Amino acid sequence: MKDRIDQLFAEINTIRAASLEEVEQLRLKYLSKKGLVSALFDDFKGVPAEKKREVGQLLNELKNKTQQAIDDLKSQFDLHADAAVVMQDLTRPADHMEPGTRHPLSIVRNRIIEIFGRIGYTVADGPEIEDDWHNFSALNFTPDHPARDMQDTFFIAQDPDILLRTHTSSVQIRKMETTQPPIRMIFPGRVFRNEAISARAHCIFHQVEGLYIDENVSFADLKQTLMYFAKEMFGEKTQIRLRPSYFPFTEPSGEMDVSCLICGGSGCNICKYTGWVEILGCGMVDPNVLDNCGIDSNKYTGFAFGMGIERITMLKYQIKDLRLFFENDTRFLKQFTGSF
Ligand code: DAH
Repeated sequence: MKDRIDQLFAEINTIRAASLEEVEQLRLKYLSKKGLVSALFDDFKGVPAEKKREVGQLLNELKNKTQQAIDDLKSQFDLHADAAVVMQDLTRPADHMEPGTRHPLSIVRNRIIEIFGRIGYTVADGPEIEDDWHNFSALNFTPDHPARDMQDTFFIAQDPDILLRTHTSSVQIRKMETTQPPIRMIFPGRVFRNEAISARAHCIFHQVEGLYIDENVSFADLKQTLMYFAKEMFGEKTQIRLRPSYFPFTEPSGEMDVSCLICGGSGCNICKYTGWVEILGCGMVDPNVLDNCGIDSNKYTGFAFGMGIERITMLKYQIKDLRLFFENDTRFLKQFTGSF
């Protein structure tokens, strides 16, 4: 039986066909119910038990190889068939190719970069895998802060802690460690949090961080910059409002709302009848953070802000479910070209 298998292996290496019909004949010859390869499977029943494993393996290889050889022969003719159709009419238009479109998150990210670019902000990025220092400690997070918990953050290793960054604020630290002021930069990027996926949350999302450090930078500069951004992003009539908040790395800290894009402030279900929607966190960089990075906090001050790109995109385009951004359904994605 082994001889027969070897013989067929050799034979399969040499099969050729001049047409699809010949390929079909070869298939019948070897692989149909009564074909030569199939016949060996019948004979296999008579193989002594101790040889079954070895012969069985060879037989399966033979069958796969034969199938592959026949598929290969067939595909040649598929190509030839296409070519033949083209040759019949050389003026035939090419196959239709659907052009791709920019993802709405990329459109909004690029728009944010462009808006800040006009007032002198350059763009930088940092690693998505971070250590404790850049994601937490240098930003003044206390050891017992909930974000340091496995429940909230994806840890890759512990002691020393390595994790997927939970925010782009880590890039502030990296830039301040290597650059002396003036610093005027934004940092777009992906961030990760251990959250169940829903219409309003995802374990991966995108932020843009902003950082401005120089002599005499004040809260008024922060407010003016953010107002400029809000009007450029959402329209000239947009109002902003800053509410006091808390972040470990800024003091004072605030959250910024914009007047509701839908109702203009009179109240609707998008703004939950408050007239305002929150879009970012911000504040004056805590002097401790400057000192942690080797920047003289007696000489320099600065502000920082961080916003979620998904959130801004959802507001801008009135998208109600965050999951749509990750499904890659072209019927959804196509709707955003040329919208800026
Ligand atoms: N990192 C914060 C977050 O992910 C957002 C943030 C708040 C960034 C205040 C800042 C800031 O730069 O000043 O929730």
